[in-house]
Amino acid sequence: MPTEQVSLHTFIQQLPKAELHLHIEGTLEPELIFQLAQRNQIPLPYADVDTLRAAYEFTDLQSFLDLYYAGAQVLITEDDFYEMTYAYFQRIHEDGVVHTEIMFDPQTHTHRGIAMETVFAGLARACRQAKAELGISSYWILSFLRHLSEADAFDTLEQALPLREAYSDLWLAIGLDSAERGNPPEKFARVYQRCQELGFKLVAHAGEEGPAQYVSDAVNLLKVDRIDHGVRSEEDPALIQALIKSQMPLTVCPLSNLKLKVVDDLRQHNLARLLRQGVKVTVNSDDPSYFGGYVLDNYLVMAESLDLSRAELIQLARNSITASFLPNEAQQPYLERLDYFEQQLDKASTQA
Ligand code: ADE
Ligand code: ZN
Repeated sequence: MPTEQVSLHTFIQQLPKAELHLHIEGTLEPELIFQLAQRNQIPLPYADVDTLRAAYEFTDLQSFLDLYYAGAQVLITEDDFYEMTYAYFQRIHEDGVVHTEIMFDPQTHTHRGIAMETVFAGLARACRQAKAELGISSYWILSFLRHLSEADAFDTLEQALPLREAYSDLWLAIGLDSAERGNPPEKFARVYQRCQELGFKLVAHAGEEGPAQYVSDAVNLLKVDRIDHGVRSEEDPALIQALIKSQMPLTVCPLSNLKLKVVDDLRQHNLARLLRQGVKVTVNSDDPSYFGGYVLDNYLVMAESLDLSRAELIQLARNSITASFLPNEAQQPYLERLDYFEQQLDKASTQA
């Protein structure tokens, strides 16, 4: 069917897309939280699924993190991690996601006595099955919690490194998440340097609640390959110019920004402005179970709120592929498919 005639939903769904900013613990749906709590005999302070879902009203990042860390307490066994992760793959399969780079927070689990190996094994089973059965590839971003100490991040790295070889098909990157304000990038400069020496790709949350300075610091001190969020970069025009020049990707999460009150109204979101200036922005879901939408919902809400053209939606999908850590030869077929969609658009416009 000519590209212009399909619904916006179908159009976005058909575009090959990579999700680059996704916390696997943020995909735990309330139904699964209750199921796992019952199976693992963990008491929950909510009467039922609806009451828990009704609590998903946040005033800022910290108010979300409190609930998010509490929800993750139901994850105990390898099967729990597998079920959570495979449910995410089934869901993004419907959205036309072809590749995903998944963040996980080992400290949330190891601090409760869950072995690092349990987390790795559960995630890996789901990721390898998703590749075989759904054709979705994935990589992992092991993320440090920035409200904890540098020493704790080093300990976590040491606990994980013996598993690196067995999971070398998946674990290739390091991330930094949790409470941003008061936990600047420089706190983790040394552990990032070690990770760089070890050959990991590097990303970090910056410029979500924290200032534009944290984005510059993540680029210059942590030497990241991508910035997670980065929407507050706009407060520093020189930084924006540097991001355009270096084509540093920003993994933007619109529904997250709305739910955590980083923006008051999606019609004022700066995604389109950044895209039109030439910043390499991508669209992602962050913690879809908590923020009310998976990746396709995020594209849709931006298309509708910011009046994005179909050519711009193709550009966002293209950015997601080229900003991924997939090798060039794996990116190529997706980029060719996006070229095809663009040609269809051009054809439709010349015929109109
Ligand atoms: N952990 C999970 N989601 C996060 C977010 N949006 N910001 C920081 N840390 C997070
Ligand atoms: Zn995030």
